Amino acid sequence: MIEDLRRLEREALAAIAAAAGLDELEQVRVRYLGRREGRISAVLRRLGRLSPEERPAVGAAANRAKTAVAEALKNRLAELEAVAAPDRDGVDLTLPARGRWRGTIHPVSRVIDDIWAIFRSLGFTRARGPEVDTEWYNFVALNTPLDHPAADEQDTLYLGPGLLLRSHTSPVQIRTMEQYPPPIRIIAPGMVYRRDTYDATHTPAFAQIEGLVVDEGVTFVDLKATLAEFARRFWGPGTRVRFRPSFFPFTEPSAEVDVKRVIVREDGADEETDWIEIMGAGMVDPAVLDNVGYDSERYTGWAFGMGPARVALLRHGVRDLRLFYENDMRFLGQFR
Ligand code: PHE
Repeated sequence: MIEDLRRLEREALAAIAAAAGLDELEQVRVRYLGRREGRISAVLRRLGRLSPEERPAVGAAANRAKTAVAEALKNRLAELEAVAAPDRDGVDLTLPARGRWRGTIHPVSRVIDDIWAIFRSLGFTRARGPEVDTEWYNFVALNTPLDHPAADEQDTLYLGPGLLLRSHTSPVQIRTMEQYPPPIRIIAPGMVYRRDTYDATHTPAFAQIEGLVVDEGVTFVDLKATLAEFARRFWGPGTRVRFRPSFFPFTEPSAEVDVKRVIVREDGADEETDWIEIMGAGMVDPAVLDNVGYDSERYTGWAFGMGPARVALLRHGVRDLRLFYENDMRFLGQFR
């Protein structure tokens, strides 16, 4: 009998869960717990005919089954009533649910990932360095004397004597070369800090991506070819690249790299954009190689530094750099 009760309970619970409406649920209730015909009620009614030894165990099992089924009926009834009467207690269940916060990759992080993917396929590995660094790594080892304008307190955020928030990712060049012998082929993304006015084209904290190659026989041709290949893979095969002479204390010769992209106009015709500056680059100054103990007669190299937020700006047609660093969900949510 106890087995029968278990089976009945299972059947009843399944029927309750399957009941699609209030009428159907009522039928299930009558079938199992109805006073006259209910199958569990019938067992309870027969308890009197059992022997005194059997009665307690079967009675307890029957009561348990009855309670479980009654409970399930009550819950299912509440569910079905809620659906049947949407404006019960003034609650409108047809209202859309409150939206859930769904995360997304930040547009600047996505640019970094895309840039990184291209350089990885060209044989580069990823490197990192600290955001709090010393004058030696940020300036001196990079052939930048401390009386150079860039080292001036106007531009650099100092934390204490000789200690600062790095103003570029170039110190990762030094840290990498100190730690590993050549050949070097790295990409180093990270945040950098400057005492700049907060405006549409400047933020005091911003991301940079550094690149460094050092090996025997590396020339300016490698720099131009690699960066041109990168630009064509990133912006499309029609992209043109221009190298303008420039100056950085740690590269000689140095260049600003501009790209001209081909975009498809709304009428379907191709159109070239203006030249857009995307990075600084150059051949690693031999003095920098000497500072890390590399043989600058034997090894040469090139490096670049790029601002991925600028790249994200171009990619999405955004005019104000600050939007990328304010973390306003109304802005960031558009990049899903
Ligand atoms: N560190 C330079 C800057 O922040 C960029 C750069 C990197 C230039 C590497 C040349 C080589 O402006």
